[in-house]
Amino acid sequence: MEKRAAVAEQSLECLTRADLDAMDSRERVKFVNSLPGFKSLALVGTRDRNGRANLAIVSTVIHLGSDPPLLGMVSRPAKVPRHTYENIRDTGVYTFNHVHESFFEEAHQSSARYPREVSEFDAVGLREHWESGIEAPFVAESRLRVALKLVEFLEVRANGVNLIVGEVTHAFFPGEIRETDGFLDLAEAGTLAGAGLDAYYRPERIDRLSYAKPDRPVRRLEPGIGDPGQETVEKL
Ligand SMILES: Cc1cc2nc3c(=O)[nH]c(=O)nc-3n(C[C@H](O)[C@H](O)[C@H](O)COP(=O)(O)O)c2cc1C
Repeated sequence: MEKRAAVAEQSLECLTRADLDAMDSRERVKFVNSLPGFKSLALVGTRDRNGRANLAIVSTVIHLGSDPPLLGMVSRPAKVPRHTYENIRDTGVYTFNHVHESFFEEAHQSSARYPREVSEFDAVGLREHWESGIEAPFVAESRLRVALKLVEFLEVRANGVNLIVGEVTHAFFPGEIRETDGFLDLAEAGTLAGAGLDAYYRPERIDRLSYAKPDRPVRRLEPGIGDPGQETVEKL
């Protein structure tokens, strides 16, 4: 409690929109990219019309719903060639591969602007993994891999970025990280989190908590078991 009170009384720095506008653009990118908090990282695997593999790191993967299972990712404005965006548009299939500490430098390197004919897998030294019937490459080094099929592109009119909406068709993961209620322990899988556009973090779970209801306090859940009651009222 003392710690909380100390934070509440701490005087915080404040930057306004005008300050952001006045900032050097590279500094603004780094500052604003820190504001969403820790971000999920994924290596997006695609192939082009000629079957050439492509890989790019993104930190904008979001959950959009579980029935149907939908995930979103944001693609920067298509003012310059965006290989991932174009491949998803052309083939309708792509993969998300979680990033681990053993290859985070290679994952970061995949953001370099390689020519179309260069596969980032080869360029950065990660291995392709293919599953029969799935027409996009996975990252062999990743322990958590998801295959998706394109549902729609939603253009954000304010700045021209595209929200790419995809439906999960397959999810591959180590069986031991799946708890009895369906939850996947990502820290146990060694999944990293990102911040800004160049910082990588090792997440550590504090605890899982019971479904919150107005008439009772939350309780800590039993490790490995989770919330078997699944007393969720609203589902997403
Ligand atoms: C940590 C990190 C996160 C990134 N997140 C995104 C993102 O969410 N969306 C995006 O369009 N580009 C993102 N990028 C930039 C892409 O990785 C980069 O533009 C890449 O060259 C795209 O490759 P492509 O043209 O083969 O698709 C990110 C880069 C880094 C280093």
